Amino acid sequence: MSKILVTSALPYANGDIHIGHLVEYIQTDIFVRFQRLIGRDVIYVCASDAHGTPIEINAAKKGITPEELVKHFHQRHKNDFARFEVDFDEFYTTDSPENRRHCEAIYLAAKEKGHIASREIEQSYCEQCGRFLPDRFIRGTCPKCGALDQYGDVCEVCSGTYQPTDLVDPRCAICGSQPTVRRSKHYFFRLDDFRDFLVKWAAEPGRLQEEAHAFVRSWIDQGLQDWDISRDGPYFGFKIPGEEDKFFYVWVDAPIGYIAATEHYCNTRGDCSVEEYWIHSNSDAEIHHFIGKDIAYFHILFWPAMLRAADYRTPTAVHVHGFLTVDGRKMSKSRGTFITARQFAEFIPPWCLRYYYATKLGNSIDDLDLNADEFVTRINAELVNNITNLVSRTFGFLNKRLDSRIGAIPDDARELIPEVLAAVDRARAHYLDFRFGQATREVLVITDLANNYIQQSQPWSAIKADPERARDILTFAVNCIKVAAVLLKPILPSYSRRLEELLGCGDLMWCDAVFNLERSEIGLFEKLMDRLEPGAFDKLIEASRGSLAALQAVSELPPFSTEEITIEEFAKMDLRVGKIVAAHDVEGADKLLKLEVDLGHEVRTIFAGIKKTYSPEQLLGRTVAVIANLKPRKMKFGTSHGMVLAGVGPDGSVTLCELAPTAQPGSQIR
Ligand code: MSP
Ligand code: ZN
Repeated sequence: MSKILVTSALPYANGDIHIGHLVEYIQTDIFVRFQRLIGRDVIYVCASDAHGTPIEINAAKKGITPEELVKHFHQRHKNDFARFEVDFDEFYTTDSPENRRHCEAIYLAAKEKGHIASREIEQSYCEQCGRFLPDRFIRGTCPKCGALDQYGDVCEVCSGTYQPTDLVDPRCAICGSQPTVRRSKHYFFRLDDFRDFLVKWAAEPGRLQEEAHAFVRSWIDQGLQDWDISRDGPYFGFKIPGEEDKFFYVWVDAPIGYIAATEHYCNTRGDCSVEEYWIHSNSDAEIHHFIGKDIAYFHILFWPAMLRAADYRTPTAVHVHGFLTVDGRKMSKSRGTFITARQFAEFIPPWCLRYYYATKLGNSIDDLDLNADEFVTRINAELVNNITNLVSRTFGFLNKRLDSRIGAIPDDARELIPEVLAAVDRARAHYLDFRFGQATREVLVITDLANNYIQQSQPWSAIKADPERARDILTFAVNCIKVAAVLLKPILPSYSRRLEELLGCGDLMWCDAVFNLERSEIGLFEKLMDRLEPGAFDKLIEASRGSLAALQAVSELPPFSTEEITIEEFAKMDLRVGKIVAAHDVEGADKLLKLEVDLGHEVRTIFAGIKKTYSPEQLLGRTVAVIANLKPRKMKFGTSHGMVLAGVGPDGSVTLCELAPTAQPGSQIR
């Protein structure tokens, strides 16, 4: 069997790991552990993504070097992953000598073969900060819908896309001053040179999920543009060889970090070489990447093309997962659902999250939802009442009443074995196809069957007349537990290890999922886990809302405008008290609600980008502040006659400016 190299995306060393990230790392870790369980030679590598503007700016804000910031988060991430039993063979960094070497080699090879172009482009520049500004570091008024304080590339209110230079009233997000435009020479990777290669690469069976393959086809159909791979200094990254003050864009060296991490592992610990995985085009090692759908573009278009350009080998498969939502909505700091790995672990045993995610994971790239109530119910019903309860009643009885020794599987139980083995085979197929949720169903088939068998055979009655009969009944249950432990091993490693100790059977492999444990001694049962309190998850949300929101609010607020206005200018605004009398969802808009607002003399239709925070029902009857003389704005969904005022938090969260309900609709606000 060929060797396998597995990767998860390299987390930015710029903030804590949160439960959204963990979807990916847990999914990958389960895959790796399953492959090992069936006997394959797997290495699992990852690294900190260290470069780029956000990390550099964040470090500057904190008064430390980017290297110090990266080191700080690298260590925190390592601890977080360990807590959640995500077990990399190597967790390296992209800011490494190996990575610089591969990065230069790949670039120079691509250049040598004519795949690099260069030309001057215009870009926003901040004179005050003395740097070019990436799109995300320019904020201003959306040119399409007029929403304030939007990013330079996409409006979060109307979802419109545009160039940063199109923003009305653009501002540098770092210092608040108005950017200028400068010309500068950039280097481009000629993606279109790899069009035919990509068409074939992406169509290879087993390479991509159907949805991801469809993405590639549509991107190719839309035409492959040159990819801008250079950035001007100051930039925290690798210098482009042979150029002055030009650096590789972080997305060039980030995926190359997979290669560097492999090399570092092979050179320091592994019985392997980087060449056998990445260089030899005839290498039969498999490479599997796991990524979220937001970074699919980089991994299934640029990445294979870059590797190809430099005659490295390309990945066997790229597995794309969807995004985590909590209670049906995007994670949000203000709602308390932006939960870090550490916060989670303070309130709930980490393996519960591994189990819950496993039940939700399939082979699709759809988003997956963590529902607070379902989480607690499911952990209690499946992990505690079903699986753990089977273990505790079986081992408890054997410990207390039968000298911790098992006997032989009785004939009436032998009849049930084929049913269990069929579940084992189905689970294997599910694991191989990434349907981890369905694999957990098969575990429950087995533990249900064992629980029912005990219930029917009543060892607690049998023991009175025939203790050996009771022992045999429980021997079947012990074997079911062993089989279940094998199936659970990829998902719950430490939990399964404790089962292995109880069973006294050493390190289980997939081939141990059989009924062969008889006449042996078992270990002493100790409590495996407690039920979760009904409100366990809500408590966590509460705590996360308290800590995180308060902490981050102060540091990330946009600076005050330096432009003064006169009282006359202010007086031009006709601010009025309004009462919301109707509110509706707008089909096709994920941020907007359509409001009917009573302004005393008339009822106005106003569109407001508040859907993420408010549901239509919540808004009825609220008394709000409205700009009544704002020029009507035509939008894709209709015309907005005015604007409802709101406080906008640093994380984009919205709180309506509300007045006491005694305020009369139509009254002036001064
Ligand atoms: N640094 C890049 C990856 C470079 S790989 C060569 C990056 N880092 S990240 O920290 O933002 O994200 C790491 C991984 O976590 C990505 O695959 C991303 O899709 C995933 N997730 C981040 N937030 C997520 C959710 N809310 N839900 C599911 N996965 C999420 O991107
Ligand atoms: Zn600036």
